[in-house]
Amino acid sequence: MIDFQQLSNKYDTPLYVYDFNEISKNYYELKEAFKARKSMLCYAVKANSNLSLLKHLAVLGSGCDCVSIGEVKRALVAGVQRYKIIFSGVGKRDIEIKEALQKDILMLNLESEEEMYRVEKIAQELKIEARISIRVNPNIDPKTHPYISTGLHENKFGVDIQSAKKMYLYANRSNSLNPIGIHFHIGSQITQTTPFKDAAIVIADLLKSLKAANIDIKFFDVGGGVGIRYKDEETISLYEYAQNIFESLGNQDVTIVCEPGRYLVGNSGYLVTKVLYEKRNDKKRFVIVDAAMNDLLRPSLYRAYHDFELISAKDSKEKSLADIVGPICESGDFLAKDIYMQETQHDDIIVMKSAGAYGFSMSSNYNSRPRAAEVALVDGKDRLIRQREAIEDLLRLEIDFI
Ligand code: LLP
Repeated sequence: MIDFQQLSNKYDTPLYVYDFNEISKNYYELKEAFKARKSMLCYAVKANSNLSLLKHLAVLGSGCDCVSIGEVKRALVAGVQRYKIIFSGVGKRDIEIKEALQKDILMLNLESEEEMYRVEKIAQELKIEARISIRVNPNIDPKTHPYISTGLHENKFGVDIQSAKKMYLYANRSNSLNPIGIHFHIGSQITQTTPFKDAAIVIADLLKSLKAANIDIKFFDVGGGVGIRYKDEETISLYEYAQNIFESLGNQDVTIVCEPGRYLVGNSGYLVTKVLYEKRNDKKRFVIVDAAMNDLLRPSLYRAYHDFELISAKDSKEKSLADIVGPICESGDFLAKDIYMQETQHDDIIVMKSAGAYGFSMSSNYNSRPRAAEVALVDGKDRLIRQREAIEDLLRLEIDFI
């Protein structure tokens, strides 16, 4: 049991708390599912990019999937080995490509033909050979929220199979490109096995034809996307997930790369917030807390549900309908909508659960709100891993031009 009251007394609120032991457990569970074949887990840094968290995963042996040179640098600073780092993203700038090549990471995951020519040109200038993979969009519906679906042709990600074939043939002939990987990622928070299976079959088929054309692909990257339970969602069996991938590959000799984000960190994280006030009108009851959409954007952006726990000094049993809202000047600023909860009073604690993934990493300074502090729990001990921002931190980069 985590003592959120004590943590909030010690560190103040809003506060992110991550259970690192839980993260290790999740890492080993997923690694175990893939144990029958050569595999590598590359944590998706975007889910939660805290340096201590990355370091924790690096020690377990994790690699990293990055979507900006900033994330690549974070991974390197955290001690992730460079040959376990992949750089994806639809819009890499020249400078990002150059730096990634100079850092000699495992591979750049290309998302368009034009990007391939830029990478080739930059590699030529650097007189090196760029190791690449190509993100293939298999046009498969992941059956998730449309904002986090990525594997359909209506989404901006990757290239279709025909274009991918053309790109692989070109890259294979180029002196500055070395195609070593094939990649797909169809979406996030996926709670059914079939979309993963269908995508793996399509991409494994493409892999076979590339191998037949003597293109020596070594990494079969299945992306991330494994969903977690926020409320009462069914979750997939990791065993079945991995078996389907094995089956799609048959006896093709490749290292399977998996890029989990949410699965590793989602349910290991909490956002701790304090009640400021309650108010009611003829329509609604609002519980106003000190965390807001700038701290946890998911409810506002996706209408995502996060379960919560109220730690109240009041012993009221009766529940009534309420919204948990923040201090931000937007009607869309809520952490929970139309939920049943007990009466609260000033300084009660509300813990928003499953906030470890896409929580702090999507937070902002909107309304000049300093971002929350972050604490790690390791073997029963709490450690501050990011200081609470101060207003001075927000002002630091602004220039007094008057
Ligand atoms: N690999 C690639 C190439 C990705 O684009 C992503 C996530 C992942 C791996 C990790 O996916 P995961 O295992 O976490 O599902 N902000 C949204 C999620 C956006 C996911 C973007 N890409 C949310 O809060 O639900």
